Amino acid sequence: MVARAPIGIFDSGVGGLTVAAVIKQALPSERLLYFGDAAHIPYGDRSLREVRAFSAAIVRALLAKGCKLIVIACNTASAAALRHVREAYPMVVFVGMEPAVKPAAERSRSHVVGVIATQATFQGELFESVLERFAQGTRVIERPCPGLVQAIEAGELDSPGTERMLRRWLEPMLAEGMDELVLACTHYPLVRPLIERICGLEVEVIDPAPAVARQVMRLLHERGLAASEGNGSFQSFTSGEPAQMVPVLRLLGLPDDGIARALWENGVLTLP
Ligand code: DGL
Repeated sequence: MVARAPIGIFDSGVGGLTVAAVIKQALPSERLLYFGDAAHIPYGDRSLREVRAFSAAIVRALLAKGCKLIVIACNTASAAALRHVREAYPMVVFVGMEPAVKPAAERSRSHVVGVIATQATFQGELFESVLERFAQGTRVIERPCPGLVQAIEAGELDSPGTERMLRRWLEPMLAEGMDELVLACTHYPLVRPLIERICGLEVEVIDPAPAVARQVMRLLHERGLAASEGNGSFQSFTSGEPAQMVPVLRLLGLPDDGIARALWENGVLTLP
């Protein structure tokens, strides 16, 4: 594996771009390949088994592109597949999303922490192990948000409908004394301004993307795989409609040209 090889990043749609943007900023010399599996979104309403199969196929496709490290920029896919792909490819470096309960529990003064995520993320053993390891003495309110990923994909980042949904979920959590809120789905940072407006200044909102970028940086340096100089690049792939990615790419300051269409055929993904 060589330092000039690309980093692969994937999610079910545009959510993982919130992680990719932070990685790009932290590692400007790296070549980043981003895949959004819009053909199968939302992952959060599917079984972990199904998401695991998609994730395994995406990993194969990214490895075929020569990726030196793969970031599963999706909490649901990390819950479903991180352990399995690490076992299947022990030589490959994987970084996944883990709900940031640890910093939330450490910083909470009320000892009431909220976590918003997809239903599937809460069902995974990863979430259970995070609670066991980091939530002793803290009350963790788990709140799945059905429909929020779809609203975000539709570009409704600040619509009355999205605000209504979020208020319905967040206001009861606030009433219970939550002072830390963990965004455990990579789509949710896209509605962070709205979430912060609802929660007010008393609540700290935690997005683990910067910690993930630091972890990527640390692992690359440790293995002598960091691209040391020159301009990096950013290439997006989608199994859905390329035009649908453009608004979020622009919002996050990522290149919005040359989005390539990737095809699924009999459970096999090919990135052009
Ligand atoms: N961004 C994915 C996550 O972090 C969204 C999952 C979905 O497609 O429902 O969980």
